[in-house]
Amino acid sequence: MPMEFAAKVRRIPVYPSAEAYGLDGPVALLASNESPYPPIPAVQEAAARALAGLHRYPDPTNAALRAKLAARHDVPANRIAIGNGSCDVLLAAGDALLEPGAELVYAWPSFSVYPHLEAASGATGIRVPLDGDHRHDLDAMLKEITVATRLVIVCNPNNPTSTALPIEEISAFVAAVPRHVAVILDEAYAEFNMLQDPQESVELLARHPNLVILRTFSKIYGLAGLRVGYGLCGSERFRTAVDQVRQPFFCSAAAQAAAVEALNHQDEVSRRVERNLAERLELEAGLQHLGIEPADSQANFVWFDLPDPDREPDVVRGLAERGVFVRAGTALGRAGALRVTVGTAGENERFVEALGALVA
Ligand SMILES: Cc1ncc(COP(=O)(O)O)c(C=O)c1O
Repeated sequence: MPMEFAAKVRRIPVYPSAEAYGLDGPVALLASNESPYPPIPAVQEAAARALAGLHRYPDPTNAALRAKLAARHDVPANRIAIGNGSCDVLLAAGDALLEPGAELVYAWPSFSVYPHLEAASGATGIRVPLDGDHRHDLDAMLKEITVATRLVIVCNPNNPTSTALPIEEISAFVAAVPRHVAVILDEAYAEFNMLQDPQESVELLARHPNLVILRTFSKIYGLAGLRVGYGLCGSERFRTAVDQVRQPFFCSAAAQAAAVEALNHQDEVSRRVERNLAERLELEAGLQHLGIEPADSQANFVWFDLPDPDREPDVVRGLAERGVFVRAGTALGRAGALRVTVGTAGENERFVEALGALVA
């Protein structure tokens, strides 16, 4: 008799991972929106210092990191949820809020983990198409909210399309959502967004107990390999619920130590934001030179339709053969599109050159 698994195992989509991990040789890994730059020495040293205490479990209350984030964002520490990546807080929110009969509303295409929440919980997911400029259609999302809605997710800037909505629109949307509905504002790329100061959305928390803002150390801070992210919650109740549904010790000691140190180096964050912007503009110019118009990016990646959408698999394969790994639109809800992370200058040039050879 074969083993029997829960029905959700058949429903949960497999996360699309790049095939480049573990390959030898210099590849351009532009598929996962990571930072192309390693953490600065002070952050590496903080993680290394934590290694001497690895015989102990990590601080389950994440006290030092929460205190640091509380001071940085002016949000009480008891309303800050730490996670093994911000995905951990996201999935825990799904676990804590959703069940069969409940509804979840999110835009599509958006972050590929959102469908996991409905599949794992048995809730009904309602996907609202992006508008013609690849942005969230917040009015259409509002219309989908019913008495059964438990959670609405807004991804700003949106992955995979890189576009962002102005804070005024986000603010009006959150104000219009009924209080019984939790709103997750997923801001994994907030620091790259030139339309707003990253603290502006945080100020909405004071008025909206049903709001949760997700942030991560995986992108601008360059700590994707350690897995640490957080949720700034409008109410303590949300934080206790997501902590309750997870295993204890969900954030490693090295991750906590590195994140605390990384927060001390905001000058480095600014430098990385500037470098990303300069490299993104170069990358966009290279695409335009090939006759390709990317979406209006406010992130560390670009999104565009290929001139011949049917050639998406050939182009993705051709790029990989040339050592360049990008994410195919098919895996992200739009066949014929590509999502490409902004890498180092050399990686971006390598990508543009390879793409040029494939779409010429
Ligand atoms: C929109 C969005 N949210 C959340 C995450 C997850 O980040 P983390 O590494 O913090 O789990 C990502 C990662 O790609 C993302 O694109």
